[in-house]
Amino acid sequence: LRVAVFASGGGSNFQALADAIADGRLQVELKLLVCDKPQAPVVERAAKAGVPAFVFRPKEYPSREGYEEEILRRLREADVELVVLAGYMRILTDVMVQGYWGRMLNIHPSLLPSFPGMHAVRQALEYGVKVTGVTVHLVDGGLDSGPIVAQRAVELREDDTEETVSERIHHIEHQLYPQVVQDIATGRIVLEQLAGRNQIKKD
Ligand code: GRF
Repeated sequence: LRVAVFASGGGSNFQALADAIADGRLQVELKLLVCDKPQAPVVERAAKAGVPAFVFRPKEYPSREGYEEEILRRLREADVELVVLAGYMRILTDVMVQGYWGRMLNIHPSLLPSFPGMHAVRQALEYGVKVTGVTVHLVDGGLDSGPIVAQRAVELREDDTEETVSERIHHIEHQLYPQVVQDIATGRIVLEQLAGRNQIKKD
């Protein structure tokens, strides 16, 4: 399975995928990193792992569609079959959503549909839920929405802070994401079945 990862920041999930490939737990090819932030640590991680990167500055394109067309072109050039979003901080347009519908995953630090958006961990703490977690889902046109592929629960403790919860969540993510991608590669998870389950939502 040929895979591309999209990331904007630290890239610990990118690293988890690359490490899983390096030690044989994950049998896919990492063909491309797509990153919208030239200074992001994930760019360095890709270089170290020997993964080609397409790093771009959104401002240099006339529109979001403009850079997404370019990304799509590169994905197709590399024959990428699965796109994995891992902390990619840009809203996708229909160009990407339609281009890779049913073949694009995201990982989110809550049990969706609870707490979509940028501050999922903080909001879970503020709400006072006793259990939060991690969700891997197919990407549709909405904010952190789309058919759910896998979830893991994380229990919250009395003395938890955003930092301690984020740390436990990251730990789970680093196990879950490589495992889900491996299950897709081996056919244990069939995305086509999930993709048919929900309609593409645009608002
Ligand atoms: C992860 O917590 C993921 O759930 C969210 O963005 C974060 C990315 O972290 N979508 P990293 O860059 O992989 O360390």
